[in-house]
Amino acid sequence: MGKVAAGVAVGVAVAACAVAGVVVGRRVGSRRKWKRVVRVLEELEEACETPVGRLRQVVDAMAVEMHAGLASEGGSKLKMLLTFVDHLPTGSEIGTYYALDLGGTNFRVLRIQLGGRRSSILSQDVERQPIPQHLMTSTSEDLFDFIASTLKQFVEKEESGSEPSPVRTRELGFTFSFPVKQSSLRSGILIKWTKGFAIEDMVGKEVVELLEAALVRSGLDMRVALLVNDTVGTLALGRYHDADTVAAVIIGTGTNACYLERADAIIKCQGLLTTSGYMVVNMEWGNFWSSHLPRTSYDIDLDSESPNPNDQGFEKMISGMYLGDIVRRVILRISLESDIFGPVSSRLSIPFILQTPLLAAMHEDDSPELKEVAKILKETLEISEVSLKVRKLVVRICDVVTCRAARLAAAGIVGILKKIGRDGSGAGGTGGRNRSDVKMKRTVVAIEGGLYTSYTMFRKYLHEALNEILGDVAQHVILQVTEDGSGIGGALLAASYSSYSVDGVKLL
Ligand code: BGC
Repeated sequence: MGKVAAGVAVGVAVAACAVAGVVVGRRVGSRRKWKRVVRVLEELEEACETPVGRLRQVVDAMAVEMHAGLASEGGSKLKMLLTFVDHLPTGSEIGTYYALDLGGTNFRVLRIQLGGRRSSILSQDVERQPIPQHLMTSTSEDLFDFIASTLKQFVEKEESGSEPSPVRTRELGFTFSFPVKQSSLRSGILIKWTKGFAIEDMVGKEVVELLEAALVRSGLDMRVALLVNDTVGTLALGRYHDADTVAAVIIGTGTNACYLERADAIIKCQGLLTTSGYMVVNMEWGNFWSSHLPRTSYDIDLDSESPNPNDQGFEKMISGMYLGDIVRRVILRISLESDIFGPVSSRLSIPFILQTPLLAAMHEDDSPELKEVAKILKETLEISEVSLKVRKLVVRICDVVTCRAARLAAAGIVGILKKIGRDGSGAGGTGGRNRSDVKMKRTVVAIEGGLYTSYTMFRKYLHEALNEILGDVAQHVILQVTEDGSGIGGALLAASYSSYSVDGVKLL
C-alpha cells in the first residue's frame, strides 16, 4: 500500500470515527435530555400523589374546618356563609318565575312555569350569553346594565302576545356565584371576586341593590325575590326532584359546595330563627386550605401570579378555570429544560391559553396516533411535529393533573358527609361507632358543572376515589347530575319564597 493510499484509509477511518462519535454523542445527549424530562414528570407525579390515606386526611381537615367556620366569623378559611334559605322547594310550587344566573363565562336568563307537582316544570326557556370579556373587569353599572337589557329583551320575547298580569309583579331568583355575605334572603354584599372577575367598585356593595337599580334604569318591572349562590340553586333543584338531597357541589369554572345544616350547629349565629330548624350553608369550599393538600411548584406559581394570591387554594387545584393552566406550566418547564417540544414556543408563556376543555380533549384522545393531541399542540401552543412518545407524555401530564383534582373533589364531598354524619363513621363526624353499626340513609348530592358532567375521566377518577374512601358506604351515596340547577333552582326558590305565597299557598 502506497503512502497516499494509507493516508486516505486513515482519513476515512478518522472521519468514520468522528461521525460515529457525533451520532453516539447526540444519542447520549438526547438520552440525558429525556432523562431530565422523565425527572420532571416523576416529580410532578410524586407531588400530586393522593393515596387514600392522604385523602382521608383531607376529609378530616375539611370536616374540622367546617366546624371552625361555623363556630366563629373568620374562624376558618372556609367562610361557611349563611344563605337564609331554610326551606327548599317541595314540588308544590305553582306559577311563572324568572331567574338570572351570573357566575361563570356565560350568564343565563330563564323563565319557568311550575305545575304544582314534583317534577312538573311545565315549560322552561333559557337564553345563554357569553359575558363580554371587558365587562368582567369594567364597572358594576356597565355589567348590570348589560344584564338588565338582556333580561328585558328576553322578557319581551317570552311574553309577546300574552297579557301582562294586572295584579302581580314578575319575580326573579338571582343566582350570583361569588362569595356573598348575606344579611337576609334578598340582601348581601360581595366579599371578593373569583374566577377572573375583577370589578373593583363592586366589592363590599349590596348585590341586589345594584341589579334592582339597573332594572329600574331599563324600565323592567321585576322584583328580585332572592339572591342565591349557584350551589344553593343546584341543591334546590336536586331537592325538588329527590327529597333525599342534602348537599350540592359545583365543579365547573369554579368549585364550591353547600349543604343543609342544623341551625343550632351554626354557633357563630346564636338564636338563628328558621322555620325548619335547618339552614343551607354556602361553604365557599374553593377557599379551603390544608397542609395535607398535595401542592406543587406549579400551583405556587399559578397562585402567586393570579389576581387573588393566597385565596381559593382548593379551587385552583380542582376547577376548570385552572387545570389547563397547570398543564401549560408543566409543558413550559419541560420545554425550557429540553428540546423535545422544539424551540420554546412563545405561546407557552401566555397564561390560560390552554383551557381545560382542550386538556380534556387531549386526555381523552383515543386515536392510536394521538391526533387530537398533535392538533391542539399545534393550533393552540404552536408546537408542531412532536413524536408519539412526546404526545404520550402530554397525555400523562393531563392525567396526573386531572386525577389529583378529581380525587381532591371526592375528598371534599366525603368531608361534608362526615360533618353531617353520613359517611358511615358515626353521627356528626364524632366517631365512636364503627361503620357496620350505623344504619346508613340514602344520601343524594346534587352535582353540576362542566368538569364533572362533560369530562369522563374526571368523573371516573372522582367516583373511584369516593369508593376508595367510603368503602361499602359508597353504595348509599348518590351523586346526581342536576343540569342547569343553578338557574332553574334559583327560579324554584323564587317560587318557594314568592311574596305571593302565604304559608305555602300560592296566590295567583
Ligand atoms: C365561587 C362560588 C361559586 C363557585 C362555582 C367560586 O369561584 O366563589 O361562589 O359557587 O365558584 O361557581
